[in-house]
Amino acid sequence: MAAARTVLLTGSNRGIGLELVKQLLGSPRPPAWIFATCRDPEGPRAQELRDLASKHPNLVLVKLDVENPSAITDAAKVVEGKLDGMGLNLLINNAGIYTPTASLETVDAEDMVRTYKTNAVGPMLMAQAFLPLLKKAAQDSKEKGLSCSKAAIINISTILGSIKKTPDSFFRPVISYRCSKADLTVDTSVRGLLSVLPILSEKHSGTLLNWEGKAIPW
Ligand SMILES: NC(=O)c1ccc[n+]([C@@H]2O[C@H](COP(=O)([O-])OP(=O)(O)OC[C@H]3O[C@@H](n4cnc5c(N)ncnc54)[C@H](OP(=O)(O)O)[C@@H]3O)[C@@H](O)[C@H]2O)c1
Repeated sequence: MAAARTVLLTGSNRGIGLELVKQLLGSPRPPAWIFATCRDPEGPRAQELRDLASKHPNLVLVKLDVENPSAITDAAKVVEGKLDGMGLNLLINNAGIYTPTASLETVDAEDMVRTYKTNAVGPMLMAQAFLPLLKKAAQDSKEKGLSCSKAAIINISTILGSIKKTPDSFFRPVISYRCSKADLTVDTSVRGLLSVLPILSEKHSGTLLNWEGKAIPW
């Protein structure tokens, strides 16, 4: 289990993000601070997160829309204040959107731009805004080399982002894709993710890994 003391996640009110929060809280050495960010921490979609926060004082809910640059810098200030001089060990860029019906015939500019803003520009802005806190954690750590317990950014991607694997998936009907995803439960996926994080080091920087830590070709 990764021994990151301070962790921040995006898109943590449901799906993989929420399960990451639950499994981090339930881990043998839970982080001192988990910053669970989501678009609407006061709204109905964050009820489960709020219930968890009421039981776990190390869980802090932070409002953050990765499409909104000023919301990202505002969130970084809130987190910096809460950390009170500590750095951030681990930033997990998890928030993402997916339009299953978007084929070449139906995709439009609006969907393309919005998806790019959320899935590609968002993680870049997050890395930029939280870099000072990640650097602080790296400077304060005695550990050598890169690791998730020292300072790291993990971008949750997908095999569908692999150019080499495109022929394997692009022509597959959406229905089989959806069925194949149903084989892997969120619980299993997150257990896999959290067992991969502690083994990451310099040699993994910039690589695309699956939930079991196996390399996927770009
Ligand atoms: N599920 C899979 O099988 C699978 C496979 C490979 C990769 N992934 C990747 O894993 C990540 C999580 O997937 P998931 O299946 O858990 O997705 P999900 O259930 O659809 O949840 C997506 C999360 O992202 C949040 N989000 C969307 N746009 C956002 C924005 N602009 N700002 C902040 N948060 C935003 C959503 O918040 P709201 O509730 O506010 O919409 C939600 O919390 C994604 O990056 C996805 O590409 C998933």
